[in-house]
Amino acid sequence: MNEMHEANRAAWNASAQWWKEREDKRGLWMRCHRDPTLVLSPAEMPFLTDVQGKDVCVLGSGDNEVVFALAGMGGKVTSVDISERRLEIAEERARALGLEVTFLRADVTDLSSVGDSTFDLVYTGGHMSVWVSDVRKYYAEAVRVLRPGGILVVNDYHPIRRMWLDSDGPAPRHRYFNRGPYEYRSDEGQPQFEFHWTVADHIQAVLDAGCALVEVDEHGEHVEDEFWMKANLDKLPAYLLIVGRKADVQQQRPPDTDRPCR
Ligand SMILES: C[S@@+](CC[C@H](N)C(=O)[O-])C[C@H]1O[C@@H](n2cnc3c(N)ncnc32)[C@H](O)[C@@H]1O
Repeated sequence: MNEMHEANRAAWNASAQWWKEREDKRGLWMRCHRDPTLVLSPAEMPFLTDVQGKDVCVLGSGDNEVVFALAGMGGKVTSVDISERRLEIAEERARALGLEVTFLRADVTDLSSVGDSTFDLVYTGGHMSVWVSDVRKYYAEAVRVLRPGGILVVNDYHPIRRMWLDSDGPAPRHRYFNRGPYEYRSDEGQPQFEFHWTVADHIQAVLDAGCALVEVDEHGEHVEDEFWMKANLDKLPAYLLIVGRKADVQQQRPPDTDRPCR
């Protein structure tokens, strides 16, 4: 068991009602299954259009807006999150929208309840990697549950923005290369642990997991509702997009060094 992740789970459970009310006010979850462009950006959309009838997994599903968008586009979606409270709320919403979604409580670094090669598409991001103590395990699990030839889409909050966390002026507070853990107390008084993975950490982890890169992009200059950041970051990149295709089984095998010489 990962104790830092378990602390994060308790913190997310404790704040679930607060997030629910915020999301209800925003109202996107009620509309994104009919209009996915409300929650999927033009940069990532080209990699998500072919989901009709496909097995799709969203890791760290949170508000589940991406889950509902992909389900509305015809994907058979599994929504994975560590927080049972966040999942209960999402399940209620899916019922209200008449969407069929499978909900699974699991840690993204341990998807042992999911078999190898289960999904055609794995999607993750939206400020998810900061909660993960091991980015290599995270993407290794994401790619393990992908079918050969399947697509991994990572569209995460851009790592450089995290340098300004806890800063209210133009100077960054944190070194880019200080990956953490950063320990905080949530508003509910719960300890929580965050991590700052670099752009290279993300890309290398996707490559090490056995993907060929299809696209790497930095896009947007504005993050909607970025209330946790006091400094104005409007001139910095908003999101990091990495799209990988899982190599087929033969390419993934290490060289067969035991083979006798001919
Ligand atoms: C900031 S949200 C990101 C997801 C989504 N884009 C959103 O905005 O709601 C973080 C979500 O990740 C979940 N989470 C945090 N650590 C996790 C882990 N190790 N495994 C699975 N989910 C995790 C939290 O419960 C929370 O719902």
